[in-house]
Amino acid sequence: QSCSWREAQKRQANPISVRLPIAALTMQTLSILPLILCCCIALDHSLGAEFGHLGCFVDTATRDINGLDGWSTIGPYSVTWSSGGTVELSNMTVQLCSEICAYGNFRYFGLQHSSFCFCGNSYGRHGSAADSDCNMACAGNSAQICGSFGRNSVYRQVYNRPDSKYFALADRDYANLTSTSGPFYRTEQPVRSLTECVYRCDADCQAVLFHLDACHLLRFAVLPHELKTVAGKFAIRV
Ligand SMILES: *[C@@H]1O[C@H](CO)[C@@H](O)[C@H](O)[C@H]1NC(C)=O
Ligand SMILES: *[C@@H]1O[C@H](CO)[C@@H](O)[C@H](O)[C@H]1NC(C)=O
Repeated sequence: QSCSWREAQKRQANPISVRLPIAALTMQTLSILPLILCCCIALDHSLGAEFGHLGCFVDTATRDINGLDGWSTIGPYSVTWSSGGTVELSNMTVQLCSEICAYGNFRYFGLQHSSFCFCGNSYGRHGSAADSDCNMACAGNSAQICGSFGRNSVYRQVYNRPDSKYFALADRDYANLTSTSGPFYRTEQPVRSLTECVYRCDADCQAVLFHLDACHLLRFAVLPHELKTVAGKFAIRV
């Protein structure tokens, strides 16, 4: 089941016309068996998806983020309130909700009233709310905000695709990522071409931003705000 989740994630990838094969393909003939094993190992890594904060949004009885509607469990967690599906835990944190929603490969998650986690692929149908409306501490971490009555603190998930060997040019996509595991990119210079830049994107690298002779190697397939003013070509693993 773990592997099929991974496969589903790959199917959802949105390949576009430009494909840049990288030199790692030379290992392809040796790597068939390891790749099968890696499929399951890589999954656990992916479940530690990173996330970016999108703001405070209104919720009503018609749930805004409703991807768990009709589910009874997600991963090891029980889904409660059959209408609008949510996971309620007394140790809820932003990280835990991210991990829960990663089991379903959802793109967004929202935290409400301290302990409720919603997962889905869209958000915002009831509109945004003032940031100050989201003012309840998370049940599992009083330093974090987990929405309020009828308010979701909404986040976007950012997944790794560590085993893809192909890159494609993509539209620029920004998020304020949250992480405790170090910087979101490093820069190598001089690098002469986008192809060389992509070649240098290997371990712990999901995307590149190439501009003039600077190759920014990104840990996630999304641009951090620090790179907003940098022009250039953005390519992600697909
Ligand atoms: C992300 O961070 C930037 C810079 O700190 C800020 O201007 C922007 O409003 C933030 N965006 C979101 C969606 O939080
Ligand atoms: C949170 O609580 C659930 C259910 O009691 C438990 O399975 C899980 O391990 C806890 N998670 C953390 C991060 O403490």
